[in-house]
Amino acid sequence: MSYDLARIRAEFPILSREVNGQPLAYLDSAASAQRPLAVIDAESYFYQHGYAAVHRGIHTLSAEATTAMEHVRSQAARFLNAGSADEIIFVKGTTEGINLVANCWGLSQLKAGDNVIITAMEHHANIVPWQMVAERTGAEIRVLPLTENGELDIDRLDGLIDSRSRLLAVTHVSNVLGTVNPVKALVAKAKAAGLVTLIDGAQAVMHDKVDVQDIDCDFYVFSGHKLYGPNGIGILYGRQALLEQMPPWMGGGAMIDTVVLPVGTTYGKSPWRFEAGTPNTGGIIGLGAAFAWIETLGLPAIKAHERSLMRYALDKLASVPDLIIYGPTERAGVIAFNLGKHHAYDVGSFLDQYGIAIRTGHHCAMPLMQHYGVPAMCRASFALYNSEEEADRLAAGLTRIQRLLG
Ligand SMILES: Cc1ncc(COP(=O)(O)O)c(C=O)c1O
Repeated sequence: MSYDLARIRAEFPILSREVNGQPLAYLDSAASAQRPLAVIDAESYFYQHGYAAVHRGIHTLSAEATTAMEHVRSQAARFLNAGSADEIIFVKGTTEGINLVANCWGLSQLKAGDNVIITAMEHHANIVPWQMVAERTGAEIRVLPLTENGELDIDRLDGLIDSRSRLLAVTHVSNVLGTVNPVKALVAKAKAAGLVTLIDGAQAVMHDKVDVQDIDCDFYVFSGHKLYGPNGIGILYGRQALLEQMPPWMGGGAMIDTVVLPVGTTYGKSPWRFEAGTPNTGGIIGLGAAFAWIETLGLPAIKAHERSLMRYALDKLASVPDLIIYGPTERAGVIAFNLGKHHAYDVGSFLDQYGIAIRTGHHCAMPLMQHYGVPAMCRASFALYNSEEEADRLAAGLTRIQRLLG
């Protein structure tokens, strides 16, 4: 089946609106993707016909909502090829997922003198939680540096690992450079030295099939809102053997076995042990719809479309005077750039006037900005609904800005 871009775009009502009198060119999906009607409708239908508190009720609606929620847990397991739905924890998003691992695994396992290895291309969500845990435990943070063209300097990993290394936490795809990291090889190296591994998949799951058993990582985490699903919902995959050993983080309803006073409360089994409180059921239902919708398109078709669009866009951008593009040639989803000496905010504001939405700033990756010696970058992201015409408009807009600003 050919990739029917017009039909796909028609499923995203927001893409047909105008911004500043121009048709919207939405090139900011790496920050947050738009949702297809299938997701919007599923959430709305659930609130109109199926909503009730889950887990605690015996009435029909509650039982139905619980079944629907647990069905999405199985969908998530299939999406990641996890061994079991019990390895899937519902979280608010990537940030909460990493904080959960940092608090449950990190605080209980790390000791003074241990070290945690991250990389210089991490999003702050995969830096700050480890720094906070390091502060509390006395563990050390070690950083795998980058090569000049924005890839991980993998040869330096062996030099970072020693007998006190406990964790490798690395992004699957850089949210700034689009670099696709060889996570399977990195995990193999880390595991051979006895490290636990966490992969931040926030920028990966929408571009290619992820198989956590093949990668062989211990934790994998992503957000629903970057996968054409709702905000406030994400998935943390955890290897069952590790989850079973981990103490909970947040306490409250739904995560306990028995509560006794004054002390002596016992906790439930994972994954529910890690899901205290009333969950974001509408978000979970919407995420389930996103999984199903993506399956109908197929990740191989999405990948093929995005790859060819990316090549087309890079080719077009090559003709823009004074454009500096950061990162490797082979990349997923995003193109980061600066236009001469002009500040990214100015460039982004001009593009907005032309109806083109991009991201500007440090992209929650200040260490990466420091690596390139710039305070900010522009970032255009290309998703399954973007077109060559939008890439043309981006290149034309940038050329015009360069002419105007000189
Ligand atoms: C690589 C990466 N990690 C983590 C995050 C944080 O995701 P969220 O804000 O959905 O928790 C992002 C969001 O931009 C990201 O790109």
